[in-house]
Amino acid sequence: MNITYVFAILIVFFVACKDKSEGNADDLSSIAYAPTSYPLSIPTSFPKMDIPADNPLTTEGVSLGRFLFYDKKLSANGSMSCASCHLPQAGFTDARAVSTGIDNIAGTRSSMSLENIGFVVKSGLFWDGRTKTLEEQALLPVEDPIELHNNWTQVVDFLKNHPEYPERFRRAFGIDNKQLITKELAAKALAQFERTLISGNAKIDKILRREEEFSDEEFAGWQLFFNANNAPDAQCGHCHTSPFFGSTEFFNNGLDSVSSLNLFKDKGRGGVTGKQWDNGKFRTPTLRNIELTAPYMHDGRFKTLEEVIEHYASGGHYADNIDPFIPQIKQIGLTTRQKKQILAFLKTLTDTSFTKNPKFQDPFK
Ligand code: HEC
Ligand code: HEC
Repeated sequence: MNITYVFAILIVFFVACKDKSEGNADDLSSIAYAPTSYPLSIPTSFPKMDIPADNPLTTEGVSLGRFLFYDKKLSANGSMSCASCHLPQAGFTDARAVSTGIDNIAGTRSSMSLENIGFVVKSGLFWDGRTKTLEEQALLPVEDPIELHNNWTQVVDFLKNHPEYPERFRRAFGIDNKQLITKELAAKALAQFERTLISGNAKIDKILRREEEFSDEEFAGWQLFFNANNAPDAQCGHCHTSPFFGSTEFFNNGLDSVSSLNLFKDKGRGGVTGKQWDNGKFRTPTLRNIELTAPYMHDGRFKTLEEVIEHYASGGHYADNIDPFIPQIKQIGLTTRQKKQILAFLKTLTDTSFTKNPKFQDPFK
């Protein structure tokens, strides 16, 4: 037998053994993979949710996503998770003017509510709409220096070597080996969990389903908001449309007075499109659970809803691209009583059956 031949056999033998031993340690194929479709219950007044064909909701995927969402180990120093800035009791915001990451560095924008997030993606996510899908978005906070400030290589290593995550990934995505855990699968699970965050059981929903009734004050506020029954038009409903009381459009709602469109501190939508006319425009956020998500606006400048209503009642601050509806609010001269009515209506959008839903709370507790 020639010596090269012997070596070749030995190498083949070694490689085979090595594969086998590693295969055993990382093998997940003995764990059942039988995903069950997640029963998403969408209120009848809501549109259909667009769910990507390659990431259908399963009970196992949603459950994995919930663990990841609340796991502080996703941050570099173990101090924060997604939920640190998206707290269920604060309508999945962080109740701060602007968010602060693990290194105590404050960002420039206020955390956004994640309720009904599966429906709003059409316009692009974030205040400026810069990200298209929840799967794409979920990759960002882990590495963002003012958020979890970690790196995915480290997080994926943590997940592969964890006593429970490999099994959860197997059950959710059918991978047959720990080494197949990727950041993309983690992002898919996070997106699945986020799509389950549906809020549609506020007082307003019960009123529309004829299970409850408006108080006189709330009803008057609703009429002002939507210019219903020929009430004075407070203009709100043109931009904050049903059923989310937000919209997929971007507007300048008159927060800053600038003499040139280049002077906005935060360019908002303009920073994404590069169009000067879009500077200072932001996505119209949902007003569901607005009572719970103070402070308000993209930079958290208003501490209370009373301040927000005062802002609109004053007709806003002038810039060339201020939406024409905003100065018109001043023209109707909202009285103190009417402002209170609008506030009372806004409070009918609070849905504590959503914020307290056990399915959305911290699974580590
Ligand atoms: C340090 C605080 C912080 C952490 C941690 C954080 N977020 Fe956020 N989140 C924000 C802020 C601030 C915004 C708005 C940023 C912007 O518009 O530029 C936001 C926006 C979002 C949005 C867009 C919402 C919308 O309506 O468009 C989603 C989705 C989201 N976060 C999910 C997550 C997920 C998932 C994680 C964990 C992987 C996470 N966030 C971690 C602060 C945070
Ligand atoms: C021209 C469209 C438009 C009109 C009209 C309008 N809004 Fe807004 N609203 C917006 C936009 C855009 C934002 C986000 C602006 C930002 O943060 O830069 C916003 C933000 C808000 C917020 C803060 C949301 C949050 O999560 O911080 C509240 C509350 C609100 N609007 C209530 C109202 C009420 C009440 C009215 C009527 C009096 C009204 N809006 C009229 C477009 C509009």
